[in-house]
Order: sequence, then C-alpha cells, then structure tokens
Amino acid sequence: MASTPEIRVSSDRHSWAATAAELVHSVGREALREKGQFFIALSGGATPALLYEALTSSVFAGRFDWSRSTFFFGDERCIPPDDSRSNYALANQALFIPLNIGPSQVCRMVGESRDQQAATADYAQQLRRATNTAAPAQPQLDLILLGLGEDGHTASLFPGSPILRDRENVIAVTQSPKGPPARLTMTLGVINRASVVLFLVVGASKAGVVSTILNPKIEADRQLPASLVAPDEGRLIWLLDPASAAGLSRDRVSMIVRED
Ligand code: 6PG
Repeated sequence: MASTPEIRVSSDRHSWAATAAELVHSVGREALREKGQFFIALSGGATPALLYEALTSSVFAGRFDWSRSTFFFGDERCIPPDDSRSNYALANQALFIPLNIGPSQVCRMVGESRDQQAATADYAQQLRRATNTAAPAQPQLDLILLGLGEDGHTASLFPGSPILRDRENVIAVTQSPKGPPARLTMTLGVINRASVVLFLVVGASKAGVVSTILNPKIEADRQLPASLVAPDEGRLIWLLDPASAAGLSRDRVSMIVRED
C-alpha cells in the first residue's frame, strides 16, 4: 500500500540544502544500522548541485562515513561522462571527488555506449548483483533521489512514455523532449521498490507542476510520471523550497523550522 507523501517546505534555499543533506545522512545511517551498507541513487539535472554543496561543506562533510555506500544513478544522458551535461559529471566533480568517493563505490550508467540496450541490461545486472536480487524481483535501494521537470517528468520518465507501464524491467532506454534526447532511466518498478524516495525540488518554475502532482484535479494529473512515484512499502518525501511550494495550501505541508 503506497504511503502518504511527507511534504516538507524549507524557509529558504540554505535551509532546503541543509535539510536535504540531513535527510540523506539520516537514511544512510539507518541503512548502515540495518545492513551495514547504503545504496543511494542520485538524481539528474541541476538541482542536485545544491545538495552536493551542502554534503561537501564543512558542516556536513565529516558527519557521515561514506565508506560503505554505493552510488547509483536514477538516469543518465547518452553522452560521454566528461560532458558537462552528464549527470555523472556533476556528481563526480561536486560530490565524489570532494568526498573522496572511489570508483569502486560508484555504479555509473554507461550512457555513451553505442549499444544502449546492452548498457541497460548491464546496469540492471549490476543493480541486481549489488542488492542480491534475482529476476523478476526488483532491486531495492535505500534511497532514490528524484528531480521534477515542469512537465511532470522525473528521472527520464516523460509524460506519455510507454515505459511508464513497464514494471518488469529495471532500466530502460528512452527519448527526452529536452536535450540530450537519448537517455537511460530507472523504471517505476525499481523506483517504487525503494525504502525512501526523496523528491528534491526548488524554484518558482516548479510551483505549478508541484501543485498539479500533489493536488491532482483530473486523471491526466494522476498519470504524470512524478505522480506515479508511490513506493510500494517505502517512504515518499517531497522537499520543497517556498517558491516551489507556493501553490500548496499550508495544511498540506510541514514547515521546516531550523535553528542553524
Ligand atoms: C535529468 C533528470 C531530470 C531532472 C529534472 C529537473 O537527467 O534531466 O533526471 O529528471 O531531475 O528535469 O531538472 P533541474 O534540477 O535541472 O530542474
């Protein structure tokens, strides 16, 4: 049974980033307590840079032992890993290098592969191996970070895509209406298997789509990719800043009060 989303609104961008970092650490500590390792999938786009800056800051960098963590990606563009538009490139420069995260701890989607289907099969196998999950069961990650597009897409799951109905495969090849077009993406099958899914959303440009997804009016709203994210047994958390939460009524959200 899908859980009710936890909607948290920060007072400003700084508080948003600190809360995001604390949530990541909190889920990581729980995973380390429970099973001695932490599997986290990073989201794409530009928003994660705010989280990475907080996680590598003097306030947070020493608060969590990343040595037993493995990093995955919710999606990747089909471009070389050193291309500035690559989700891996941002994470590598802004998170892995500053935190001394070694290559053995990073499971990169090989978006640049000439055989994209083979790349999806290979990544699915790596996920299954890491989580000791045999098909047809879906790998279970501890935390999947997701961004939100203004059209309601998340990861590289775009409105109307046939892979929105795919609950069997773990990773799929898809086409994005926004460049770069070719993408590899986790499917809803593996996303909704996660212990915690955390949407990281900031900015006034997202206020409309946030309201549409969290206060759906018509069936089309409920069929948007981000609306279909509903962890089977895990927690669903939306972390918003005031601008992206502007369309929500106060009774739907819990305001974040920080002392720092
Ligand atoms: C991608 C992402 C995508 C992103 C949203 C939000 O590879 O583009 O996975 O889903 O998270 O488009 O992007 P911004 O954070 O840049 O607004």
